[in-house]
Amino acid sequence: MSSYDAFAPIYDDWASHMTEDVAFYVGLAREADGPVVELAVGNGRVAIPVAQAIARPMLGIDSSPAMLEVARERAAEAGVELELREEDMRDFTLAEPAALIYCPFRAMLHLPTWRDKRTVFERVAAALRPGGRFAWNVFVFNPHIAAEMDGKWEEHAGIRNRVTHVPADNRIDLELGTGAKVSLWWATRSEWEGLIEVAGLEVEALYSGFEHEPFDEESREFVWVARKPA
Ligand SMILES: C[S@@+](CC[C@H](N)C(=O)[O-])C[C@H]1O[C@@H](n2cnc3c(N)ncnc32)[C@H](O)[C@@H]1O
Repeated sequence: MSSYDAFAPIYDDWASHMTEDVAFYVGLAREADGPVVELAVGNGRVAIPVAQAIARPMLGIDSSPAMLEVARERAAEAGVELELREEDMRDFTLAEPAALIYCPFRAMLHLPTWRDKRTVFERVAAALRPGGRFAWNVFVFNPHIAAEMDGKWEEHAGIRNRVTHVPADNRIDLELGTGAKVSLWWATRSEWEGLIEVAGLEVEALYSGFEHEPFDEESREFVWVARKPA
């Protein structure tokens, strides 16, 4: 059982504010002239519109059986073909190299250590075809926001939750009123750049938003596009 299983029934409400990323990933998928893969595909929130837009099957990988079950139902309802694999993204390999691998909604932060993140970057690099892209988005850790919200119970989309910060482990623990818990481990810009470099990828773009806004000192989100050299 994955810690995310407890989020499956409320995930749509939880993610209801997050809509603008879909067009961004759809845009990248439309430009991909080969296999497309979503890491941490969840309930298919992004993968289903992506598969509809490219009009061909794509692969989604996730470690939560409950999230995948919802994705399966959704894909069937939408009439799109998603190949869904229950697997930890630290272990994935592909039979056919991908033109695009992407990982939305901060899911890379569920990987606890730099080594875990590095493993995924190396797997991505090995799974991409030359010129293929890897795209993901993650929050920029902001101590001012952290101080305001730390440990306070709040309502978001009708869901009682609190976020507790553990700076010594660069971690946030998200807890729901139901007792469900997941953790995220943030990373800095230079750590992301280091991950890109050690995996032998190169930065194509760093945006601060899904409409390709430039990244600057005020930015709150990293929206990365990296590429395997051609
Ligand atoms: C915030 S949700 C994102 C779901 C979907 N990509 C979206 O954008 O709505 C995070 C997902 O990451 C998955 N996940 C967490 N750690 C994982 C891992 N190590 N390998 C594969 N999936 C993982 C969870 O099961 C969950 O479905």
